[in-house]
Amino acid sequence: MVTGTLIKEGRTSFIVPEDHSAGGPGKIVDSVFFNEQMAFNRDVSVMFLRALDREMTVCDAMAATGSRSVRIAYEAPRTTVTANDISAYAIPYIEENIRLNKLENCTSSNRNLHSLLAEHVFDYIDIDPFGSPMPFLHSSIIGCRRNGYLAITATDTAPLAGAHRDKCERRYQCRPLRGPMCHEAGLRILIGTIAREAAKFDKGIRPMLSISSDHYFRTYVQVRDGAGKADESLDELVYLAYNPVTLERSYSREPDENHKYGPFWGGKLFDTELLARMDPSGTAAERRCDKMLSLWKQEIDDIPLMYEISEISSHLKITTPPLDRFIECMQQYGRTSRTHISPTGFKTELSLKEIFDAYREAAGEKR
Ligand SMILES: C[S@@+](CC[C@H](N)C(=O)[O-])C[C@H]1O[C@@H](n2cnc3c(N)ncnc32)[C@H](O)[C@@H]1O
Repeated sequence: MVTGTLIKEGRTSFIVPEDHSAGGPGKIVDSVFFNEQMAFNRDVSVMFLRALDREMTVCDAMAATGSRSVRIAYEAPRTTVTANDISAYAIPYIEENIRLNKLENCTSSNRNLHSLLAEHVFDYIDIDPFGSPMPFLHSSIIGCRRNGYLAITATDTAPLAGAHRDKCERRYQCRPLRGPMCHEAGLRILIGTIAREAAKFDKGIRPMLSISSDHYFRTYVQVRDGAGKADESLDELVYLAYNPVTLERSYSREPDENHKYGPFWGGKLFDTELLARMDPSGTAAERRCDKMLSLWKQEIDDIPLMYEISEISSHLKITTPPLDRFIECMQQYGRTSRTHISPTGFKTELSLKEIFDAYREAAGEKR
């Protein structure tokens, strides 16, 4: 029997340590970790698995209190969940939460995920560590069934977004990019690194849903068997050039003197068919889920990298027009969208000259 706080999240209730994190990356404030702010993150897992809508064996490999495990088991039909954590302190919470929800499709496991995933394969594996997921990537690829899915979180956003270049180069073997697009770049480093790791096993990846949110990056990828799939994924890697004075961004398949940042994932971030099937009903943060789903669905995801409207206003020294009006002006000339990464950001296939022209038009200046 454990004591703590009873939380109702989505359609599920669970007990967590009374002294737990309520925001930020969180830390263990009692013996077992729980962060209330990750409710939306857990909602997305539930929506994702509901949208796949098939028999799935799920391994919540770093389950802590089992909050995500029991939510998946209770709210995503046709799942059979293993709630695993290396910490012996986590197990009473996991077991109490399974009991509380009367779950017959969820079991606890007190293993080091490396040994668990060396012995068992799953259709979906969730990796949710403190900081970088790199130490766990290899094992999660080994434990992923053919055409299965990995959900990988990284909370070491500062190195990935270029604030600590040496750390990013060490962990991800990738040169990060600092600038207004650094969060998209960080997310694309994470995905590119998973692609490179999977390729070592002759496997490719297909990103299904990729998120930059709060204090973390997270991507859901399908792992696909075969050297051909691995090569297809590696072909999506790009090196980027960025000039903060002219705002010019460009990418190249090979690194050179200018394209010195990377490698980044240059391909798609989302699977539009999956997004169309995702339903926010009954989630904990239903309005936020609904809003994010709309943003993801319209987002141009096959072009790195985003812009911030403030970059354009500082560069042209013209007062900022409303973003919607600016986007509408750009859409007359080519594909342009908002991005979930920033409420003041946009993605476009237009050249810089076309962006500047559209900006002047939106700001009421003659073209
Ligand atoms: C950030 S917490 C997970 C939070 C949890 N997924 C949630 O949604 O509340 C990270 C957890 O990973 C566990 N962990 C760390 N290394 C592990 C390993 N090698 N195998 C299994 N669990 C591990 C820790 O004990 C900790 O509970």
